[in-house]
Amino acid sequence: MPLVNLNQLYKDAYVNKYAIGAFNVDTLAMCRAVLEVSQKNRSPVILMFSEGSRAFMHPGNIKDLIENISQDITIPFAIHLDHGRSIESCISCIDEGFTSVMIDASKYSFEENVRITKQVVEYAHKHNVTVEAEVGCVEASKKDEDNFYTDPDVAIRFIKETGCDSLAVSIGTGHGLMKFKEDEKPQLRFDILEKINEKLPYFPLVLHGSSSISPSLLEDFNKYGGNIKTAKGIDEALLSKAASINVCKINIGTDFRMSYITGLREALAKNSDKFTPRTFLTPALEKIKECVDYKQNHIFNSVNRIKEE
Ligand code: 13P
Repeated sequence: MPLVNLNQLYKDAYVNKYAIGAFNVDTLAMCRAVLEVSQKNRSPVILMFSEGSRAFMHPGNIKDLIENISQDITIPFAIHLDHGRSIESCISCIDEGFTSVMIDASKYSFEENVRITKQVVEYAHKHNVTVEAEVGCVEASKKDEDNFYTDPDVAIRFIKETGCDSLAVSIGTGHGLMKFKEDEKPQLRFDILEKINEKLPYFPLVLHGSSSISPSLLEDFNKYGGNIKTAKGIDEALLSKAASINVCKINIGTDFRMSYITGLREALAKNSDKFTPRTFLTPALEKIKECVDYKQNHIFNSVNRIKEE
């Protein structure tokens, strides 16, 4: 079973100018759905667990469960911890068989971020696990603050001092539904990507907060009882452009989760006389498959990257 760390995948993505999608999964059925559609597309993929979803899935067991449901999967994929908040939680995930972890110490000073990240890198590399770290801040609500955007020189110093394998950078994407203000023109700071690329070619960067929240997704979400009034996501063309430079991993949470809930609400609304859970869960899983399929084909440019066995 091709459960891998991200080094080899990043190299191919960088050289061939595409990005690998990382999806915020919560259940084993979601993992299977993501793997199935990625297998169909011959695309590498990343199953990404937040600390909350890891706790929900029963820590200690995740790798075994995924190994069980992926016996027939031949595309390479990684199990990744998203926003690990402490050295201890990263170490637990590494011990449990995650193949990649993110240590997010971006809220601390540069020196403290380096100190914490270095410790995770040291442990992870002994276990053949890749480490993502973060410099800058990808909270959309903090866009007006001085340190919102990643300073390329600081990023390069950080990469050299920590030995991390990839870096989440802040170039204008952000967690949350309103990634731009109502009257703001959506744009990303490609100059930051290019500056890092000039000085550190081949180094893979990561974009967080990259859902597009299209008007049609919002409309479908609200059709059967959802109530999200406004959202402003990242233009797909901007993400594709980033993928063609040095962004090798793009995180998708909101679009993926909203797709699932959209499918679930519709099934609940249309089957009020039914009570078998899979009657409702299957359409929800179909929606996330559509989400992954669309992004791999139209945004990440990651399809047909893996040869048929
Ligand atoms: P979105 O919710 O914008 O897709 O971002 C997800 C993410 O970056 C998880 O780390």
